[in-house]
Amino acid sequence: MEKHRYIDIHCHALYGVDDGSADLEESLAMLRMAAGEGIGKIILTPHQKPDRRCVSMEGLQERIKTLQEAAEGEKIPIKLYPGGELFYRAGLGEELEAGMLPTLAGSGYVLVEFYPQEQYPYIRDGLYRLLAAGYSPVLAHVERYGEVCRKKGRLEELLDMGCYCQVNTSSLTGEQGFGMKQLSWRLVKEGLVHFVATDAHRAKGGRSPQISKCAAMLEKRCGSDAAARLLYENARKVLEDEEI
Ligand SMILES: [Fe+2]
Repeated sequence: MEKHRYIDIHCHALYGVDDGSADLEESLAMLRMAAGEGIGKIILTPHQKPDRRCVSMEGLQERIKTLQEAAEGEKIPIKLYPGGELFYRAGLGEELEAGMLPTLAGSGYVLVEFYPQEQYPYIRDGLYRLLAAGYSPVLAHVERYGEVCRKKGRLEELLDMGCYCQVNTSSLTGEQGFGMKQLSWRLVKEGLVHFVATDAHRAKGGRSPQISKCAAMLEKRCGSDAAARLLYENARKVLEDEEI
């Protein structure tokens, strides 16, 4: 099997653009660790929040180019792609349409987040608007939204609409607490999850780009086919802008 097969679709390893990596050194340390974990491709997804200064589309491309060249200089075998973690607000579809915000690797898929305590109708309507604008929303760390996950049928409704969802590796390995671990595994086992990603912010500790332990757990508990879908096959379809 390919050594660097995992594809991380949610990662804050781009330096100096959000609460993730602080500088080029930390970004390189994160990439080195990611490569050691078996990750070969990363979509960099800095936060894009309306109330904060966020990286521009040009800045994103420039920094990714710098980081990619630095990684190649150090022989770190990781290919980087542009993306963003878009905080939902009214008009998000129009901003995307105007080319002001990044989709995932230039595809029709967009990584979207909400306040963790956000009400369900607001989340559903927001995702519906993105779908109506022609995008395929991927709900970031779905396990954080109690209003979506803790009432039967809600997540199913979002998936029926055409949404996708992502769970964090650290939730599945238990680093976010027992309740989060239980919930995340239930979602995975019920087949309600499309992507498992690191959401890494640091080169060290619980928010670093760890995936191998989670991958071993997925293979053991769900089988290698399901694990492959969650860890790289669906993500490959995002990179190639194919339907999942
Ligand atoms: Fe994130």
